[in-house]
Amino acid sequence: MYELGIVWEWLGFAMRWFHVITAIAWIGSSFYFVALDHGLRKAPGLPEGVYGEEWQVHGGGFYRMQKYLVAPPELPEHLTWFKWESYMTWLSGFCMLAIVYYGSADLFLIDRHVLDLENWQAILISIASLSVGWLIYDTLCKSPIGKNTWGLMAVLYMALVVMAWGYTQIFTGRAAFLHLGAFTATIMSANVFFIIIPNQKITVADMIAGRTPDPKFGIIAKQRSLHNNYLTLPVLFFMLSNHYPLAFGTKYNWIIAALVFLMGVTIRHWFNTVHARKGKPLWTWMATAVLFILIMWLSTVPKMLSGEEEQDVSIAPAFQKFAQNAHFDSAREVVQVRCSMCHTAEPVYDGLARAPKDVMFDTDGEIVAHAREIYLQAARSHAMPPGNVSEITPEERAILKGWYESASAGS
Ligand code: HEC
Repeated sequence: MYELGIVWEWLGFAMRWFHVITAIAWIGSSFYFVALDHGLRKAPGLPEGVYGEEWQVHGGGFYRMQKYLVAPPELPEHLTWFKWESYMTWLSGFCMLAIVYYGSADLFLIDRHVLDLENWQAILISIASLSVGWLIYDTLCKSPIGKNTWGLMAVLYMALVVMAWGYTQIFTGRAAFLHLGAFTATIMSANVFFIIIPNQKITVADMIAGRTPDPKFGIIAKQRSLHNNYLTLPVLFFMLSNHYPLAFGTKYNWIIAALVFLMGVTIRHWFNTVHARKGKPLWTWMATAVLFILIMWLSTVPKMLSGEEEQDVSIAPAFQKFAQNAHFDSAREVVQVRCSMCHTAEPVYDGLARAPKDVMFDTDGEIVAHAREIYLQAARSHAMPPGNVSEITPEERAILKGWYESASAGS
């Protein structure tokens, strides 16, 4: 029974590894093509239908990249497509969401001070929000607003801010940020799956059938591509933010999220301009710095979401078995002596402003809710306490191990 915790942990790690690799492949190729697009130049003697070309140097050779805007007069036998990078990033990301947030919904997804949800309700809201988000986005793009590039961007931005606020009213701060990232990334991946690739396929089919391809499909795909470009950096911020409680766990976390989307635009704009060889707009970095400082400042406004006034002493049903276990008293003592100087609402350990990763062991409810993590961090591995600063003994680790394993086994 208790081995399951270990298998689950490794499954999470394997999936994270896979997810990061596919994301690097996706974002890497996407950055590459955006830069290439900006770098294309007209040159004398380009073949018919070619919009521009760029010479590139890499890996001991020279590449001469040319872009046909609609399609070349004739298709070569083999075409290399770029789509699996995106699909696999989404699929592995969704698996991670399931392993971490659906698997431990009571720990990571639900904050009963924010909204008292059952696990299945929280999971349903999570899945529904991702799919409905795409439908709303796609409808907006196809509506008359979609004709106006910047007008559309402004409307989409407002929609994202509303989502940021909405998620913080439903989930833990950590899950809210992660969902905002997943929501945005779902739009990006769905853009590839439902719009960009199908449109390209229409063009290819037209050519094979000897029809003249309609340039409209390429133009639509390009617009979606532009959105993906500006959304990439915020998604990465949200995905990484779960290591930084100051970003997600403070009162104005949804405003922080709103500013993060703006940083995505200011930073990308610099690169887009430079790649188009249109100068170096330093103001974008100044704007980014101002936004970042504003975010830092917002994160210092005291947290109010988690009802710090009245401490929660209740124990969620799923964790009762850890509290009722015969070894709990001795395990609690170990945690209080060896962990609590750091993992508390107001850490006494030098240099810690907040409980690391927002993991706190102030009440029985908090201790049992983290039973599996305590087991993995301090009993099965020696990751905690860091550098064993609080000098936990092997016997005390054995107590934590015995507690978790016997409670999980139901004895
Ligand atoms: C000196 C301060 C300190 C002490 C003592 C300490 N921790 Fe931590 N703990 C940290 C820090 C810092 C992190 C964040 C590590 C990181 O960012 O990867 C952390 C993270 C954690 C996490 C979250 C891990 C994750 O990746 O989500 C758990 C669980 C945890 N500690 C459990 C414990 C337990 C159990 C003990 C006592 C046996 C303990 N800690 C003692 C500082 C401490």
